[in-house]
Amino acid sequence: MSLCAANGRLARLRGHLDVDTSPMSQSEISSAAVGGLAAATTSGKSCGGAQPAHKKCYNFEPGRLLLDQVAIITGAGGGIGRATAILFAQQGAKVVVSDLDASKADATADFIRNSCGTALSVPGDVTDPSFPPKVVAAAVAAYGGLHILVNNAGYTWDGMLHKQSEKQWEAMLAVHCTAPFRLIQAASPHMRDAAKRELEQQGRPHPRCILNVSSVSGVHGSVGQANYGTAKAGVVGLTKSVAKEWGPLGIRCNALTFGYINTRLVQSKEKGASIEVAGQQVPLGIPQASGVAAAMKQMIALGRVGAPEEAAGAMLLLASPYASYITGQALEVTGGGWM
Ligand SMILES: NC(=O)c1ccc[n+]([C@@H]2O[C@H](COP(=O)([O-])OP(=O)(O)OC[C@H]3O[C@@H](n4cnc5c(N)ncnc54)[C@H](O)[C@@H]3O)[C@@H](O)[C@H]2O)c1
Repeated sequence: MSLCAANGRLARLRGHLDVDTSPMSQSEISSAAVGGLAAATTSGKSCGGAQPAHKKCYNFEPGRLLLDQVAIITGAGGGIGRATAILFAQQGAKVVVSDLDASKADATADFIRNSCGTALSVPGDVTDPSFPPKVVAAAVAAYGGLHILVNNAGYTWDGMLHKQSEKQWEAMLAVHCTAPFRLIQAASPHMRDAAKRELEQQGRPHPRCILNVSSVSGVHGSVGQANYGTAKAGVVGLTKSVAKEWGPLGIRCNALTFGYINTRLVQSKEKGASIEVAGQQVPLGIPQASGVAAAMKQMIALGRVGAPEEAAGAMLLLASPYASYITGQALEVTGGGWM
């Protein structure tokens, strides 16, 4: 590979890693860990074939762990969802990228396509009842089926319990519990029913799985997050129920209980990020995040916060054939914190 191509590849990789500005410098996240993942996903080959000349393929050497699997990933415009969409595409999945923020969903899908992956952007609000059938229909129309559903979209709307409004409470249940419930139901004809048909006709269904994103707040509780913690606990109950109902059809369902992952959700509130919910701006982040991050690092065994790429790595682990006998679990991805 030419030096020019190598430099381009590194620049594009840097762009991917720098997606979220951080209260900690990137160097504070173990460069060994992130570098390892980066190396695993960027050893360069051009993808060749019928690729248009303007498309540079610096950082995609597609793997095969999810070859030709069709995956819907919600909240894939940024943070953990974006990193997961890119990693799944690198492993051969055809990815439906979805997000409330259409420009971010489009950017993730463009990035994947420009890097020789296969992706489609279907923006939308997961709490809108018309969204789940729409995104599932788009996936099936574009790629002919559905094998992986990642319920990742979410945000926090913190407040001490005695001051929390019902609106705050309902908003968290809507985005973290009701939306995944509806999405799984909408996916049912193409996951449950399809698997049943395959089982009857061929004796063996395609591998399929659902990943639901929970949080340590849902397992261990968190000050100021009665609404979020309750909703994220609900995610685990939903996960185990689906695992039991759909397990006989070979469909696995697991939850990921993330600790402190370096995304916009854990940036300083003072930076002013927000999300619009029913016409109201909800501020995102945590007050004085750098102090919280420093305290977190004291109680995390690995001594650092996680990178979105590492959260995505855990998603791939559970979606891959290596997890074929793992279902109904809530995997804590915390760097050894909260033990
Ligand atoms: N970052 C952490 O430390 C952490 C820890 C535990 C759990 N989580 C969970 O991980 C998931 C991803 O969060 P993140 O940290 O990557 O944050 P993020 O803000 O970087 O990404 C979340 C994405 O979800 C999208 N989204 C939010 N509400 C939506 C809606 N109603 N419809 C469609 N899209 C919507 C946002 O636009 C955003 O792009 C969330 O469910 C979050 O609760 C994060």
